[in-house]
Amino acid sequence: MYRGLFITGTDTNVGKTIVSSALMHRYRGLAPLRYWKPIQTGAEKDDDTAVVRDLGACSDLEVMDKGYRLMRPVSPHLAAELSERRINIPEIERWMSEESGSSSWIVEGAGGVLVPINSWELMIDLMIHLTLPVLVVARSSIGTINHTLLTLEAIRNRAVQIAGIVMIGDKNPENRAAIERFGRVDVLGEMPRVEKLTAQTLGEWARADLDREGRLAEFLA
Ligand SMILES: Nc1ncnc2c1ncn2[C@@H]1O[C@H](COP(=O)(O)OP(=O)(O)OP(=O)(O)O)[C@@H](O)[C@H]1O
Ligand SMILES: [Mg+2]
Repeated sequence: MYRGLFITGTDTNVGKTIVSSALMHRYRGLAPLRYWKPIQTGAEKDDDTAVVRDLGACSDLEVMDKGYRLMRPVSPHLAAELSERRINIPEIERWMSEESGSSSWIVEGAGGVLVPINSWELMIDLMIHLTLPVLVVARSSIGTINHTLLTLEAIRNRAVQIAGIVMIGDKNPENRAAIERFGRVDVLGEMPRVEKLTAQTLGEWARADLDREGRLAEFLA
């Protein structure tokens, strides 16, 4: 059993990498943390690990570089096929076990929970195997109630533990309340869209406003 969180989202491009970076700022004082992106698609231009290294102000020890690095910006199953590779959960587990040390993990998925990673498994199968509780990143804007509740339902159907939700965008108290009530879940942070994200602005937000009650500490410490 590992300590840590699996960061997923209601969609691709929703803010998982930014929230992962924010978690580094918020919790590195509590426990040694290590960020990991086991499956990176679109690697010809996207490098979430480099973003977290920068916006999370991470040391080399705090990020793990290993993993599937697939060039095409498409679903992992297809990106792997186009690179003549196959994503294999036991291999991901082996990389993790070789590197575990005493750090708590911040593992970022790719896309959302029901994204295929090969011809028979989905991203949620990886979450099941890694046995990490899941933090869901969602938009605050219209459409989010449906996307978020569907995501929570899929996670609960597989008996994976839900750690909470972080919402990105202009605060929307009605959407937040509906997600908390119907999803039986807590929103642990509401991150506004900012003009220019830097390690400094993100760190300030994370320390002041992310998981104010420290609910995630039990998974990371
Ligand atoms: N609070 C914010 N303020 C401004 N820009 C943001 C904020 N949150 C996210 N973004 C921007 O939105 C884009 C998507 O965010 P991010 O890369 O974190 O998404 P993701 O869910 O990790 O995507 P992927 O599925 O590709 O991993 C990025 O360009 C990021 O800089
Ligand atoms: Mg990302």
